[in-house]
Amino acid sequence: MQRQWFVAFEGLDGSGTTTQSKLLAEFLRSEGVAVVLTKEPTEGFVGKRIRAVLRKQATATPLELQQMFVADRREHMGNLVEPALKSGKVVITDRYMFSTLAFGGLGVDMEKLRAMNSAFRVPEMTFIIDVPPDTALDRVHGRLAQSGKRREDAELFEEDGKLERVRANYLRVAKLYPNVHVINGDRKKEEVEMDVRRIVLEKIKL
Ligand SMILES: Nc1ncnc2c1ncn2[C@@H]1O[C@H](COP(=O)(O)OP(=O)(O)OP(=O)(O)O)[C@@H](O)[C@H]1O
Ligand SMILES: [Mg+2]
Repeated sequence: MQRQWFVAFEGLDGSGTTTQSKLLAEFLRSEGVAVVLTKEPTEGFVGKRIRAVLRKQATATPLELQQMFVADRREHMGNLVEPALKSGKVVITDRYMFSTLAFGGLGVDMEKLRAMNSAFRVPEMTFIIDVPPDTALDRVHGRLAQSGKRREDAELFEEDGKLERVRANYLRVAKLYPNVHVINGDRKKEEVEMDVRRIVLEKIKL
């Protein structure tokens, strides 16, 4: 069977997971690799409900929210990720299981969250884009200002104190799973991109 490549980008809001997953997809495509770029939460039914909770337009308990992420993930893996991997495509996801552990870990026991997610495959490469909460918040607030929104419109987890704990959770889960790379995201996009690319090229022979 040919080698399957499932790559996940993780990090605080504003850390650059969307930026870096796009840059890696563009690079691999330019090298002729078939890539599926996807994200969690998905645009599916449950994913939309999750977004509503994150935007504080709906409420759920911390456990309910993480159960929704697991349901969304099950659908994402079954309908999109697993079939794409089987057909030989590289799948890059903008957020995955570690976001559940890191963000969910604020309100739910980490071991319970790990158990809830134990059926999901561990990516061949996970990149945690690590930035201090200040950097993350500056970028998120910059984006809010650009779209004419106020700070009060920030999402559920977008507060300094919470983000420091989420960051610590990411660094903790990085030690619990194989093939996790913590990348310093507090640098120019291009510098972050080159670190990611170097690790990818060590593994995927083009
Ligand atoms: N290394 C970087 N240096 C400076 N700005 C950056 C860097 N990476 C991304 N940005 C900018 O910061 C903002 C957030 O980046 P991005 O959307 O990639 O983060 P994210 O982790 O996907 O955030 P979210 O979780 O909120 O979707 C964007 O405006 C992006 O252009
Ligand atoms: Mg993003």
